Amino acid sequence: MLNAAPTDLTGKTCLVTGAVGGIGASAVAHFAAQGGTVYATDIVPRFNGPATYRAFDLLDAAGLEQCTQWVAEIKPDVVFNNAAIFDMGSVLDADLDQYDRLFGINVRAFYAVLQAASKSMVANGQHGSIINLASQAGHRGEALVAHYCATKAAVISYTQSAALALAPHKIRVNAISPGVIDTPMWATVDALFAKFEDKELGQKKREVGEAVPLGYMGDPSDVARAAVFLACDQSAYMTAQTIGVDGGTVLR
Ligand SMILES: NC(=O)c1ccc[n+]([C@@H]2O[C@H](COP(=O)([O-])OP(=O)(O)OC[C@H]3O[C@@H](n4cnc5c(N)ncnc54)[C@H](O)[C@@H]3O)[C@@H](O)[C@H]2O)c1
Repeated sequence: MLNAAPTDLTGKTCLVTGAVGGIGASAVAHFAAQGGTVYATDIVPRFNGPATYRAFDLLDAAGLEQCTQWVAEIKPDVVFNNAAIFDMGSVLDADLDQYDRLFGINVRAFYAVLQAASKSMVANGQHGSIINLASQAGHRGEALVAHYCATKAAVISYTQSAALALAPHKIRVNAISPGVIDTPMWATVDALFAKFEDKELGQKKREVGEAVPLGYMGDPSDVARAAVFLACDQSAYMTAQTIGVDGGTVLR
């Protein structure tokens, strides 16, 4: 039977963290274009986009507390749990300070937002959709990327646990694993690989793009379109999934 579920998000309240970044800003634009009412947050003071914006430092205890209170006030139907940072180091040089920063944002703050949104949806009887940003790095370790890979594996695991806990409430929880997407984060990634692998600036970024089976880095909108799909009723029977948006890199 044909059941053409709508892709529009009219009447839905959508929250995006890491909204100033490449993928976050695109998600804000796509949710708004689908009729969603968008709330956005990031660490920087201002944001130019179709959203009500608040700045919070999610690595700061008070900032994180204020953000989770804001989540309870917003009562989001859709959450794009996206804020994260990248850093490099093998087990020989990735120290505990790096661990605290990466796990502080990518896991602790990620979990706090996930929990605040889950509690709000349950309390308000909303059949919401939570979309977590994992990574291809969460599916396998990399010699030089010990902590970041571990944080993204944690995102995949929390997605599964949350999906099972929230299924009785008809709340869906899924993750997206981007491959290599051309965003501001890549300035950091490229510079770090230049240092660790003795490459020229821009070389790593060029190499990873060429290594993608489709032949190029993804655009933030490639991820944002998958987010719209997971946010709306097109994906009504999907929960606990981690979807790759990677141009085929999963098989490399
Ligand atoms: N770009 C890629 O190739 C790629 C690949 C796999 C996964 N991802 C994931 O996708 C998501 C988005 O990545 P992106 O490429 O758009 O990165 P980005 O760096 O462009 O955006 C990340 C955003 O998080 C925000 N942020 C960082 N620290 C914060 C803090 N303390 N408080 C509040 N906000 C903070 C940043 O300000 C930034 O705007 C991340 O979860 C990332 O790990 C990206």
